[in-house]
Amino acid sequence: MIELKDVTKTYKMGDETIYALNKVSLNIDKGDFLAIVGPSGSGKSTLANIIGGLDKPDSGDVIVDDEHLIKAKDNVLSHYRNKKIGFVFQTFNLQPTYTALENVMLPLIFARIPHAKRVERAKACLKAVGLDNRMNHKPTELSGGQRQRVSIARALANEPEIIIADEPTGNLDSQKGIEIIDLLKDLNKKLGVTLIIITHDTSVARQAKKTITIHDGKIS
Ligand SMILES: Nc1ncnc2c1ncn2[C@@H]1O[C@H](COP(=O)(O)OP(=O)(O)OP(=O)(O)O)[C@@H](O)[C@H]1O
Ligand SMILES: [Mg+2]
Repeated sequence: MIELKDVTKTYKMGDETIYALNKVSLNIDKGDFLAIVGPSGSGKSTLANIIGGLDKPDSGDVIVDDEHLIKAKDNVLSHYRNKKIGFVFQTFNLQPTYTALENVMLPLIFARIPHAKRVERAKACLKAVGLDNRMNHKPTELSGGQRQRVSIARALANEPEIIIADEPTGNLDSQKGIEIIDLLKDLNKKLGVTLIIITHDTSVARQAKKTITIHDGKIS
């Protein structure tokens, strides 16, 4: 389903060239649960952002369900991000002035889902993450674990095939972290969503079906 071939991404800083990813090849099957581990600065987020169409590599190929992301035009890529991928970030990335419900409705607006259906689907997603009693709370009125649940509900809104979670438990205490991982695992198991989690936490990585380790932009 997801295929990376010799993917290289560099950043030029003055005279220095940083290889964030150095000829990375990788296959991820539909319904997989993959953990990506490795030290800080090793290229994990770069890899996740390239798979998610947030970033383009310098060379190599990224093919997701026959779509060559490198050649894709911007409008194709934004459609891909909106429909196919659900992103969950360490810092939640919620809109502070919007309620939980409005945050979850946002990707549905981009997908041009009519208003009534938007409300219905956003409510169902919040219910799925156990937040049906917090729909009208703003992010500052929610706990960290609840905020991350809102961001998972938002990631689910367009029924993505792939969820990419970049350190989703990084800002949570260990109990809340376990609950969030259990929720993501459940989505993988029950809905068959392909789950890619970046983590520093070996206990999270141990639960994945596959784990890859990145060092200096290379899978080791
Ligand atoms: N926009 C950028 N400009 C220059 N260098 C960058 C940029 N983004 C990332 N890098 C460099 O690319 C390398 C990989 O970064 P990346 O964010 O993928 O690491 P990471 O494994 O996710 O680290 P962490 O665990 O700290 O989140 C790092 O050396 C980083 O400094
Ligand atoms: Mg990172």
